[in-house]
Amino acid sequence: MLPVFAGFHPGNACRAGADSIQMKLNIVRPFLPDLSEIQSDFAQCLQSGLVTNNSPHARRFEERLQQFFGCPITPSVNCNGELSLYHLIQAWKDRLGYGPHDSFEVLVPSFTFSGTIHALVTNNLRPVFCDVDAGLVLDLSKAVVDSPDIKMIVAVGAYGNLVDLELMGRLAKSQSLAVILDNAPAFGSRFRGKFSWEYGFSEMISFHATKIFNSMEGGANIVNDREIADALIRLRDFGQYEKVRGDVDLPGLNSKMTEICALVGLKNLEKVDFILGSRARNAARYREFFGGLEGKGWLRTMAVSPHVVCPYLYFPIILNEDAGAFVNHMQSRNIGVRRYYTANHSLKFYRGRYRQQDLSFTEAIKDNIVSLPLHTVMTDSEMDYLFESVQAYFAK
Ligand SMILES: Cc1ncc(COP(=O)(O)O)c(C=O)c1O
Repeated sequence: MLPVFAGFHPGNACRAGADSIQMKLNIVRPFLPDLSEIQSDFAQCLQSGLVTNNSPHARRFEERLQQFFGCPITPSVNCNGELSLYHLIQAWKDRLGYGPHDSFEVLVPSFTFSGTIHALVTNNLRPVFCDVDAGLVLDLSKAVVDSPDIKMIVAVGAYGNLVDLELMGRLAKSQSLAVILDNAPAFGSRFRGKFSWEYGFSEMISFHATKIFNSMEGGANIVNDREIADALIRLRDFGQYEKVRGDVDLPGLNSKMTEICALVGLKNLEKVDFILGSRARNAARYREFFGGLEGKGWLRTMAVSPHVVCPYLYFPIILNEDAGAFVNHMQSRNIGVRRYYTANHSLKFYRGRYRQQDLSFTEAIKDNIVSLPLHTVMTDSEMDYLFESVQAYFAK
């Protein structure tokens, strides 16, 4: 029997015909607490006036995250993932000795959400678009340090999958590169049983409502370096290092988390074992079904190394043809799907603007890839409906 949490709406079925039930499956179904679970704490916030500015629940949320990840430095939370990433890059750029107006190049996958690339460009850094591999993560064998101007590498935990973090560490060390992980979609992912921070990297995780674990809007940075951690605390508060005159040592932005988001995050964190366990069970069903179709040569799935625990934010499939007809087919069955991620080097703003390396795999998949819904709370009949709908596409 499935536990009933807010955000789970089993009433998504409607009668389509005399003997068939047509369901509606949105692309995401945010996992959220019930109002009753947070209302008295929120009432207290309103009464006290402590609603933002490093207030008690935001601090408690950071402490609980530290307990969950077991990291020595307390994670810092922000109002969203993109600004967390922006500040993390900003802090590393400063640490490497570069001022806000300086620039260098950064190896980054083209195949990601545009927010990854924007966080670099708004820090006055220049992306060098690199390829991904069959795991849909940065292909480390193809990311080449072909210029002394390259000082940083940003890898993305696409769909919760991770690059080989040991290999990444060796590459970064041999080439003297700062490493940042955009793990926006990879809350709870592990490589060889360890979280990303345990490999010494700085990572950002998004808590957006669409993500594995959410606080409605939010994001966090987990770092191993005390100086970077301290800079992140100042940067989210306009760069202020003292609050009497409001003097600043870097141009930070206001990206503090509000109490209402912290409260939702705290409640969801109490259920984190359920969230990750449920996703793992659902993903196993998807892998079995889609593995069968892959065996027939009808599509490809994301290659996940046996060393990676992947919580699967969406379930990406790569068709043998442009995904347009498949998207229309699924939409006609009330199933939301996304053409996601995307090849950023071909987006309007980025086209022709920055350097790119060999992008042959990205080019080959960018129009054929589609993300399917995979929710934390999902009934067996919803999954069956999705699988039947996919099967019907190939039966055409
Ligand atoms: C890879 C990646 N980076 C960055 C972001 C930005 O996170 P947020 O939506 O919390 O700002 C996202 C979220 O969609 C993402 O998928």
